Amino acid sequence: MNERAEPQDLNAAIRQHSEWLAGQLHAQRESLFPPDAQKAMRKFTSGEAAGLLGVNDSYLRKLHLDGKGPSPELTPGNRRLYSAENIQDLRVLLEKTARKPGDYLPGRRDGDHMQVIGVMNFKGGSGKTTTSAHLAQHLALHGYRVLAIDLDPQASLTALHGVQPEFDLDEGGTLYDAIRYDDPAPISSVIRKTYIPNLDLIPGNLELMEFEHETPRALAQGHAGLFFFRVKEALSQVDDAYDIVVIDCPPQLGFLTMSALSASTGVLVTIHPEMLDVMSMSQFLRMTADLMDVIAESGADMSHDWMRYVLTRYEPADAPQNRIVAFLRTMYGEAVLNAPMLKSTAISDAGLTKQTLYEVERSAFTRSTYDRAMESLNALNDEIAALIQKTWGRE
Ligand SMILES: Nc1ncnc2c1ncn2[C@@H]1O[C@H](COP(=O)(O)OP(=O)(O)OP(=O)(O)O)[C@@H](O)[C@H]1O
Ligand SMILES: [Mg+2]
Repeated sequence: MNERAEPQDLNAAIRQHSEWLAGQLHAQRESLFPPDAQKAMRKFTSGEAAGLLGVNDSYLRKLHLDGKGPSPELTPGNRRLYSAENIQDLRVLLEKTARKPGDYLPGRRDGDHMQVIGVMNFKGGSGKTTTSAHLAQHLALHGYRVLAIDLDPQASLTALHGVQPEFDLDEGGTLYDAIRYDDPAPISSVIRKTYIPNLDLIPGNLELMEFEHETPRALAQGHAGLFFFRVKEALSQVDDAYDIVVIDCPPQLGFLTMSALSASTGVLVTIHPEMLDVMSMSQFLRMTADLMDVIAESGADMSHDWMRYVLTRYEPADAPQNRIVAFLRTMYGEAVLNAPMLKSTAISDAGLTKQTLYEVERSAFTRSTYDRAMESLNALNDEIAALIQKTWGRE
C-alpha cells in the first residue's frame, strides 16, 4: 500500500530553496569574481575615443604628440588606449576651445531643467533594464552627468553595475531609504559612484518592496501626503548635481512606478513587437492613464516633456514583427522612436557576464555581430539624447 506523502510546510520548502540558490549563486560569483574584485571600465582604442568625442583620430594623435591633455596608455605596438577618465579629461580640455559651447560637454546650462527619464512597461522582459543601462552609460560616456536609479526589487540594473543586491546592501542603501514615510534619509546617502566617470548609481534590492506595502498603510492613516511625489522630492535634493536621471522601473504598475512616473520629465515605454506584448501594453496604457487621472485630480501637475516607445529585441527579418512595427508606427507616428534596439546575441551574451555592450571588447564577438548591435544601440541612444537637447531648446 502506498503511503501518503507527509504534507510539508510551503514556507519552509521555499526558504530552503532560497538558501540553496543564494549559496550556489554566491559560490559561483566567488569563483568568477573574487569578493574584492572591482568592476572596471575597459580602455578604448583611439578610434573609439575619437568616435565618442566626435573628433578625428588624427587630431587626438596630434594632441598626444603635442603633450596636450591626458596621456593615453601605449600598447607594445604603440597604439593609444584611452580610459573613460582620459576621455572625460579630453572633453573638459576640448570644450575650452570648442566652436560651439556644449560640443564636448553637452549637459545642462543655465535655465535647463534636470531630465528625469522613466523607463517603464509592466510587461516583464520587455527590455527596460537593457535599455536603461545602455542609455545611462552612453550618456555618461558622452559627457552628461548621469544618475541611474534601480527601482526594481529584482535589482538587475544594480547587478549589471557590479553591486550585488543580496550581499552589498544588507543595511539599506536603496532609494527606499530616501522615500520611506518614516524618517527618510537624504538621497545623497544612497548614491554611489560607479566605475564609469559621470555615472552614479542608486542600487535596488527587495527592500524597495516596503514602499509598495507601506504606501496603502500611510494612505489609510492619512499621512502619505502626495505619495506619488516622493521620488520627485528626493531627486530635487540633487538637482544641481546631474543633467539626466534614468530610472529603471519594475515590471508592475505599483506605487514605485507611479512615483517614478510622476517624477519623470521624459517617459520611455519599452515594447517588444509581438502580439501578446502589444496586447498587454494596451492594458498598461489604460491603467496608467486611469491612475494618472486620479493623481491629477489631487491637483498634481502631470505635464512632461516627451513620451516615446522604444522597440526592443527587434528582428527585422521576422515578418510578424514587421507587421506589428508598421502598425505601431502608423498608429503612434513620431511617438515611436525611429531607431529600434535590434535583437542581438552580443547584447544578451554581454548581459550573461553582467556587462553592457559598451563594456565588452569588440574582439569578444564576431565583428559584424558586434558592430550591428553597437550601431543599433548608438542610433537609439543618440535619438534620445537629441530629444533631451531639444527639450533644452537646442537642436
Ligand atoms: N536587444 C537585445 N538582444 C538580445 N537580448 C536582449 C536584448 N534586450 C534585452 N535582451 C535580453 O532579454 C532579457 C530581458 O531583458 P531586460 O532584463 O532588459 O528586460 P526587463 O524589461 O528589464 O525585464 P523585467 O521586467 O524582468 O525587469 C534579458 O535576458 C536580456 O539580456
Ligand atoms: Mg528589468
